[in-house]
Amino acid sequence: MSGIVVLREETPEDHPAIRELLAAAFKRSGEAELVDALRKDGDLVFGCVAAIDELIVGYAALSRMSAPFPALGLGPVAVGAAHRSKGVASALLRWSLARAQDDQWRAIFVLGDAAFYGRFGFRPELAAGFRSPYAGPHFMALALNGALPAAEGIVDYARGFGRLKSA
Ligand SMILES: CC(C)(COP(=O)(O)OP(=O)(O)OC[C@H]1O[C@@H](n2cnc3c(N)ncnc32)[C@H](O)[C@@H]1OP(=O)(O)O)[C@@H](O)C(=O)NCCC(=O)NCCS
Repeated sequence: MSGIVVLREETPEDHPAIRELLAAAFKRSGEAELVDALRKDGDLVFGCVAAIDELIVGYAALSRMSAPFPALGLGPVAVGAAHRSKGVASALLRWSLARAQDDQWRAIFVLGDAAFYGRFGFRPELAAGFRSPYAGPHFMALALNGALPAAEGIVDYARGFGRLKSA
């Protein structure tokens, strides 16, 4: 038992454990079904798993968005209840942001808590100019590889999210 948190991209063998983790963390099946739908639709760009001694304890999904520039949507993000408040989600986010930056994406959008995501540079004011079904104070953006190429336009999450929103 090393107890060390390993961050890596998901593999097909991880899918059942990711499903279980998401269903337990959100206490419903919607987020697990969302990730399955993103994969099926070809919209999941990458999924990052956090593993301790090969047990998956955290997960973050990054999916293709429609936007005026190459942009990813972050979420769902989840950490198993027994492993929270130890920096696992923060590590997942740092890994995912670095990967997105290396892959030349220009922005990541997220819908969530501004205090939490603000730590990683997400800002509601950066997303405020965009028209989106998710627009509002919890809708935030982070610019990668320079300033955002546009400050307004229409942005939307991948198709799979529509199903979650109406769930
Ligand atoms: C949110 C979540 C991913 C955080 O994971 P974590 O590994 O505990 O996060 P970290 O250890 O990196 O950071 C912990 C800090 O995040 C903040 N935080 C955690 N959950 C939060 C929430 N729902 N809202 C705002 N801030 C939150 C707290 O400040 C916490 O600090 P504390 O430990 O001193 O209380 C985890 O609690 C979780 O899976 N929750 C259920 C699913 C969920 O709500 N996901 C996010 C929406 S997509």
